[in-house]
Amino acid sequence: MAELMDRFPAISDLEKRAKRRSPVYSWEYLASGTGDEASMHRNREGLLKVELSPQFLKGVITPDITTTMFGVEHSAPIGAAPIGLSGLIWPGSDQALAAAAAKHKFPQVLSTVATASPEVVKPIAGDYGWFQLYPPKEPTMRDALVDRVADLGYQTMVVTADVPAPSRRERQRKAQIRVPPKIGPRLVVQTALHPAWTLAMLRNGMPGFGTLETYVDSKSLANLAGFVGASLGGTLSWEYLAAVRERFDGNIVVKGILDPTDAQRCLDEGVDAVWVSNHGGRQLEAAPAAIDTLAPIVDQVAGRAPIFFDSGVRSGADVARALALGADFVFCGRSFMFGLAALGPPGVAHAFDILVDGLLNVMHQTGCETIDDLRQRVVTP
Ligand code: GLV
Repeated sequence: MAELMDRFPAISDLEKRAKRRSPVYSWEYLASGTGDEASMHRNREGLLKVELSPQFLKGVITPDITTTMFGVEHSAPIGAAPIGLSGLIWPGSDQALAAAAAKHKFPQVLSTVATASPEVVKPIAGDYGWFQLYPPKEPTMRDALVDRVADLGYQTMVVTADVPAPSRRERQRKAQIRVPPKIGPRLVVQTALHPAWTLAMLRNGMPGFGTLETYVDSKSLANLAGFVGASLGGTLSWEYLAAVRERFDGNIVVKGILDPTDAQRCLDEGVDAVWVSNHGGRQLEAAPAAIDTLAPIVDQVAGRAPIFFDSGVRSGADVARALALGADFVFCGRSFMFGLAALGPPGVAHAFDILVDGLLNVMHQTGCETIDDLRQRVVTP
């Protein structure tokens, strides 16, 4: 819709409005990184450094960005990354993301620590629904969760590797994030000051943990960091991954890879795709910019499996940069949530439109009709 694009032409425009409309605990959870946030900022700086050199005089350019991944046709190589505490950030967000994913043909990855259950979300997302696994320590819980996800028809499971322990996340601590939010004067003030969030919460109910509530009582989930540390962290090993690989017939993606040796080992273990990410700068403040780790991993994998990328992507130009450096599919977490918090459910499709329109524009500007063409346009420093 032209009018919406004129008012909010960039993800940063959605971000500004999202901040105004979000309670402090929602915003701090969404926007913060860990520690001094150096890795979060490095993600942006690293992307901005990637230059694409145009070629001109090519006449009419007809870019084709449709991408088949795991046998499903997608309208662009762009997807919605898994997002924890999604209903606290914006109530109803899992369902809104799923509906937009199915309509606009992009993948939505439902987090283990999302608000809505896979039972609710999968029928909405259809073929575009993927599931993200935080590996439960208890093998019985792991097997039950993997089987549950498979029974629901999920074809793709994204196993998160980069949370060996909960991160310190100082801003999130200070914001005293709780799910459901603690009833008290702060909640009253925040809900009164942010009526759009409050209305969405009244429509969707207080956010909980749709997936995990089946296995643990909600009290132990009140402090998520503690719960993730005690039950979901420090679990993943190559042996554990092999057990998941063995049990799940669909596609296994390992997310959070920054090291070519780890990427190689993923291939050795029969993983179907490698996802390069530093968790949006939320885990290790000393981590490199995720984009700086992409090219060596692309070289190592050498076309033997698709490579996905996230961390710091805020525009179609950023998507183009990651694709040009060899990613096959690019994911965004915060960008979609900025859309939701800024505009409600229509904000998901609008964020997607911004990214797609930006990517197409870069392809026109650089004289590229295919993603392969884009890969020839990288300026090597
Ligand atoms: C959850 O995965 C988070 O990054 O907060």
